[in-house]
Amino acid sequence: CIGVFEVVKFHTKRHRASKMRVLLTGGTGYIGSHTAIALLEQNHDVLLFDNLSNSQRHTVDRIRHITGKQAPFVQGDIRNTDLLTQTLRDFQADAVIHFAGLKAVGESVEQPIAYYANNVQGTISLLQAMQQCCVYKLMFSSSATVYGKPQYLPLDEAHPTSATNPYGRTKLHIEEMLQDLAASDACWKIICLRYFNPLGAHASGLLGERPNGIPNNLMPYIAQVAAGSLPFVQVFGNDYPTPDGTGVRDFIHVCDLAEGHAAALPFLHAQNGWHAINLGTGKGTSVLELIKAFAEANEIDVPYRIMPRRPGDVDACFASPAKAHNILGWKAQRDIQEMCKSAWLWQTMQG
Ligand code: NAD
Ligand code: WQD
Repeated sequence: CIGVFEVVKFHTKRHRASKMRVLLTGGTGYIGSHTAIALLEQNHDVLLFDNLSNSQRHTVDRIRHITGKQAPFVQGDIRNTDLLTQTLRDFQADAVIHFAGLKAVGESVEQPIAYYANNVQGTISLLQAMQQCCVYKLMFSSSATVYGKPQYLPLDEAHPTSATNPYGRTKLHIEEMLQDLAASDACWKIICLRYFNPLGAHASGLLGERPNGIPNNLMPYIAQVAAGSLPFVQVFGNDYPTPDGTGVRDFIHVCDLAEGHAAALPFLHAQNGWHAINLGTGKGTSVLELIKAFAEANEIDVPYRIMPRRPGDVDACFASPAKAHNILGWKAQRDIQEMCKSAWLWQTMQG
């Protein structure tokens, strides 16, 4: 989206980027809590805004324990525009990182209204509150799901977008809404970060992903099998056109993802308009490779069985991380082994 000259200009500014006051919607959730740590460690001020529908209040204390800093917490729903407006004003926010939303693909097929209400209506409410307070800097949690079925790999930001389920459609609608907004008023500075497959947990074992019920995603499922809560991993298909026949994904450590947000803050500050940026590693790992890596890294048995393909899955999906590297100066650092070790530490600390 931006030319070489602008990138060079940005890089010189980047080192002068100052401390910011950042409101995190969904701040006590999985990615929000890790991002809060990355921002606090870089000396930014952070406020956590969350309705606790999929997270817990004790996360606020754990963030303080890890960083030694107290991030204020406001319990509320993003659809409460008045509360958001008041909170943005009181906190004197410079920017918002918008994580809050519902994220389960299967659930979105069964309850599309809940997904459009939370994700799309919630975002409209947030934008109205931001506009009222003249807070124009926004980073949005988007997803590789907006690329639909990959037409080529690796996926760069110019790949056509589409949606295959209501969850994905909420992300796409929000991205398009944000593009319209940026085009309507030059004040807005908006970045859509398209995450690939976040995994793992904070090295302390105090923060991680807590799925409700039986996990849908691969890593929490593997961890629960290793813990003996589930009998075996169901490997959904081994007849894909991939090296070992199982699905290939771009798994990224949640702490790398969190640091990607911190790296994007100076860019958010310096640029105008709307930008989409992938946060991935650029490396594809298969389902079987992940299961084996988990077993080896943690010296534990992970039984698995080959099952039929899961409807809606694609064979392979991985990012081109070049834009994030060129524009943000950010690159994922942690490997699959570290993702597996931290996920297991988190699992064992849950009891
Ligand atoms: P999460 O469920 O752990 O965190 C989301 C947080 O938002 C939760 O704490 C929840 O309580 C809160 N929340 C939900 N609806 C709210 C509302 N209406 N008002 C206030 N708070 C609300 O999920 P996560 O994995 O941390 O995901 C964060 C964001 O990243 C989501 O928007 C998700 O769609 C996106 N994303 C996640 C993944 C992934 O695999 N985890 C991948 C791509 C994109
Ligand atoms: C990964 C691979 C499965 C579970 C989802 C969302 C996506 C994004 C990230 C938010 C696939 C296989 C899985 C299991 C398995 N979220 N698998 N057995 O589907 O790539 O992405 O989370 O934006 O929108 O769709 O992640 O972890 O579910 O699956 O074999 O028990 O693991 O078939 O190949 P996915 P996943």
